Amino acid sequence: MSLKASYSVIAPFYDAAVERATRAARQRSLAALPGEAGRVLLAGVGTGLDLPYLPPAPRYVGLDLNRPMLRRALPRAGNLDFASVQGDAQHLPFTEAAFDAAVLHLILAVVPQPDRCLGEIARVVRPGGTVIVFDKFLRRGQPALLRRLANPLARRVASRLDVVFEDVLATVPQFAREDDQPALGGGWFRLIRLRRR
Ligand SMILES: C[S@@+](CC[C@H](N)C(=O)[O-])C[C@H]1O[C@@H](n2cnc3c(N)ncnc32)[C@H](O)[C@@H]1O
Repeated sequence: MSLKASYSVIAPFYDAAVERATRAARQRSLAALPGEAGRVLLAGVGTGLDLPYLPPAPRYVGLDLNRPMLRRALPRAGNLDFASVQGDAQHLPFTEAAFDAAVLHLILAVVPQPDRCLGEIARVVRPGGTVIVFDKFLRRGQPALLRRLANPLARRVASRLDVVFEDVLATVPQFAREDDQPALGGGWFRLIRLRRR
């Protein structure tokens, strides 16, 4: 099963499973987003659980591979200047430096090639721009046997469980890590802020 197909099945249940558990962490993460006007990309925007917590001034583009997830995001946009785009976060349909900031919430560890995804984010975010990441990552050398055992199935239906953020970041030298804090699950989920050099 592809992620596109599996998230079509997950879409009607996603909010019930994820909203409450992630609300506080996503609010903390989004507080790091610059509030001034500009263009902000939400990569893998899903059902739009971030939208109620976004500052009102910027123009937002929410990209997702999956139409049933995106459809649920639109009603959450309220008065925001929000456009939805169906596309692949590993091959972004945008020009260089098109965005002032990007939000990567629960997408970097979902896509098959997180290094490709972060590389694309580096291409479309302007120098000096902010990227905020909220996701689950392993530390280098962390055994995490259960997660590694579950990974072959999990990566096909919902998310990879074996992504080491430091390994991904090492492939994209355009980013400097400014902040990195534990969020949920004893530090399995982290809030990370990057600056585009
Ligand atoms: C775990 S959900 C996260 C949704 C949202 N960002 C959130 O924080 O609730 C992962 C999302 O990534 C989308 N997705 C999976 N692979 C993708 C890809 N290659 N490009 C863009 N979106 C993708 C899925 O359709 C799904 O909406």
